[in-house]
Amino acid sequence: MTGLRSPSDYSQEPPRHPALRINSKEPFNAEPPRAALISSYVTPIDFFYKRNHGPIPIVDDIERYRVSIDGLVKKPIQLSMADIRKLPKYDVTATLQCAGNRRTAMSKTRTVKGVGWDVAALGNATWGGAKLSDVLELVGISKLTTVTSLGGKHVEFISVDKCKEENGGPYKASIPLGQATNPEADVLLAYEMNGEVLNRDHGYPLRVVVPGVIGARSVKWLDKISIIQEECQGFFMQKDYKMFPPSVNWDNINWSTRRPQMDFPVQCAICSLEDVDYVKQGKITVAGYAVSGGGRGIERVDISVDGGKTWVEAQRHQKGSEPYVSDDMNSDKWAWVLFKSVVEIPGNAEVIAKAVDSAANVQPENVADIWNLRGILNTSWHRVRVRNALQIANSNL
Ligand code: MTE
Repeated sequence: MTGLRSPSDYSQEPPRHPALRINSKEPFNAEPPRAALISSYVTPIDFFYKRNHGPIPIVDDIERYRVSIDGLVKKPIQLSMADIRKLPKYDVTATLQCAGNRRTAMSKTRTVKGVGWDVAALGNATWGGAKLSDVLELVGISKLTTVTSLGGKHVEFISVDKCKEENGGPYKASIPLGQATNPEADVLLAYEMNGEVLNRDHGYPLRVVVPGVIGARSVKWLDKISIIQEECQGFFMQKDYKMFPPSVNWDNINWSTRRPQMDFPVQCAICSLEDVDYVKQGKITVAGYAVSGGGRGIERVDISVDGGKTWVEAQRHQKGSEPYVSDDMNSDKWAWVLFKSVVEIPGNAEVIAKAVDSAANVQPENVADIWNLRGILNTSWHRVRVRNALQIANSNL
C-alpha cells in the first residue's frame, strides 16, 4: 500500500483557475494566457501549465503514503513523507518546460500528432524538497555513482496515474544514475512548490523535478523509484518524446533509432503580444522569456521589428532588480530569464525574438527545418505580426 490511488475517470479533478487556456479537458492540459506568464519571475501556481496523461491521483491518508526504492539495490526501503522531510531541504528555482511547447505553430507547417500548445507550456517555480542524491544514499548508493555493484545504471520513477498510452498503466520515466547521484544536477524529490505544499495537479504529495530536462522526465505522484540496468522501457521514454528528422513519417518511423530526449534546447518566446496584434502607438514593449536546458545561461536575446534584417539586444533579468549575468554564481542556473525591449514599430511589422545560450547555441530560424512528426521542441525564432491600430483606423476614414 502506498496511500496513493488513481481514479479511473475524471470526476474527481481538482479546481483550476478559469483564466487557463484549456488544450484538452480529459486528461486536463492547460496553459496560462501569454501575458500572465511574464507578469512575475516565479510563476504563480494557478498559472503554471498543467500537463497530464490521465486522471489526477488522490491521497486519502498522507500518513499511509510510502515511496519505495527497489530494483538493483541490496536492501529495498520504503520512505514516508516524514522520512523525506528529515533529509536536508533544498529550494531550487527551475523552469519546467513541456517538450510540446509551441506545438500548434509547428503543426501549421505540416500536421503533427499531439496536444496543441501555444507558447506557455512552461513555468518557473521554486521547488522545495530533498535531493535525489541524498535519498539514494539511504539505499547505499553514494554520490557520483554511475553504475552500482549490482549493475544499476538508471533510476526509474513510477507513478500511479492511469495512462491510455500505457494501456491503463502508470506514467514512468528514467534518468541516468550519474545525474541522479550528482548533487550539482539538483534533481529533487519535491514536496513544495513556491513555498506551498505541492498541490494535486503538480504531483502531491511528492514529485521528481529534473532541472534543465524536458518536463516529461519530472514524474508526478511518485510511487516507486527503481534502480535498473537499462533505461525505462515505458511508452513516454521509448515511443514518445524523441526528436526525429523532418524525413521521418508515420510509415517509416523506427523508434529504436533515437534516444529519449533529455535536455531541452535554447528557447524564447514573446509573451507581450499575440500572434497578430493591433497596437496603438509607434513604440511598443516586446517582452517574453528565454531559457536553455542543461543549466546553460542565456547570453543574449535579439529582437527584430523588420523580419530579421536588423536586430537590437533586449534587457534580461531574473529575480529582483540586479541585471542578469549568464552563468554567474548568483544567477538561477536552471531558471528562465525574462527579457524586455521597447522598440519603435514601422506600421505593420513582423516582430521576432531569438535567444543565444551560454554555449552560443542559437534558435533555428525556421520551424520547417526542425519539423518532426510528434511536434516536439519547436524552438524556432518566435515571430508575431503587429499592425498599427492608428494607421488602420485612419485608412478606414
Ligand atoms: N507525471 C505523471 N505521473 N503523469 C504525467 O502525465 N506528465 C509529464 C510530467 N510528469 C506527467 C508526469 C509531462 S509531459 C510534463 S511536461 C510535466 O509532468 C508537467 O508538469 P506540470 O503539470 O506540473 O506542469
